[in-house]
Amino acid sequence: MKAWILFAAVLAVPVRATAPSPAHVKAQVACADCHGQAEPAKGAPAEACMGCHGDYAAMAAATKALPVNPHDSHLGQVACTKCHAQHRPGKAICMECHEFELHVK
Ligand code: HEC
Ligand code: HEC
Ligand code: HEC
Ligand code: HEC
Repeated sequence: MKAWILFAAVLAVPVRATAPSPAHVKAQVACADCHGQAEPAKGAPAEACMGCHGDYAAMAAATKALPVNPHDSHLGQVACTKCHAQHRPGKAICMECHEFELHVK
């Protein structure tokens, strides 16, 4: 009986992937580095990204050699996490309107 209750409890927990992007897994970036806590319940703020990668100016400089710069556009300062989602594939939101080639790794 006890075992059955335990089994039911396990089934009730929603299954979700918790691994961030492959580059962050490889670099051993911890949950708390982005979320501010070890057992997060909601998304991470873009400020956490900038703490390691630099601000918009720094990111614009890093990708300025690309034909179209995803970090310096007429959209202004779009939250990093809009394009670089972590627990699901990211996407360059520019593609909602444009047809140039931009891919989030
Ligand atoms: C590189 C930064 C980063 C790391 C590392 C990271 N997360 Fe996240 N996490 C995010 C972002 C950004 C979101 C917002 C959802 C999205 O766009 O994918 C998020 C969302 C979540 C959510 C909210 C539920 C959801 O589906 O949106 C949970 C829970 C979570 N992360 C847990 C974890 C755990 C546990 C770890 C460590 C194993 C972890 N995260 C590591 C950035 C990170
Ligand atoms: C604790 C520091 C740290 C935090 C916080 C962090 N990153 Fe990273 N990130 C790294 C490291 C280290 C790498 C791997 C080496 C590199 O490419 O610079 C990396 C790699 C990346 C890459 C390159 C991916 C690739 O495959 O080349 C992107 C994009 C990125 N991070 C975006 C983000 C975003 C967006 C956030 C916030 C949700 C974030 N990072 C938070 C340290 C961090
Ligand atoms: C409009 C979508 C978008 C937003 C918003 C965005 N990025 Fe990016 N980012 C990209 C794309 C697309 C690339 C891949 C460029 C390429 O082909 O190398 C990239 C590349 C990167 C890289 C790898 C840079 C390198 O040297 O190769 C890092 C790190 C990164 N972004 C971090 C950030 C951070 C931090 C923010 C917020 C300040 C941010 N990004 C906001 C689309 C975005
Ligand atoms: C909601 C739709 C929309 C989104 C999203 C969007 N754009 Fe645009 N973009 C436009 C429109 C409309 C123009 C003006 C078209 C024109 O005059 O040819 C434009 C013009 C441009 C131009 C100059 C036109 C050219 O071909 O020289 C560039 C470069 C550009 N966008 C880059 C970006 C980048 C990078 C992103 C993502 C960070 C982005 N756009 C996201 C609608 C959008």
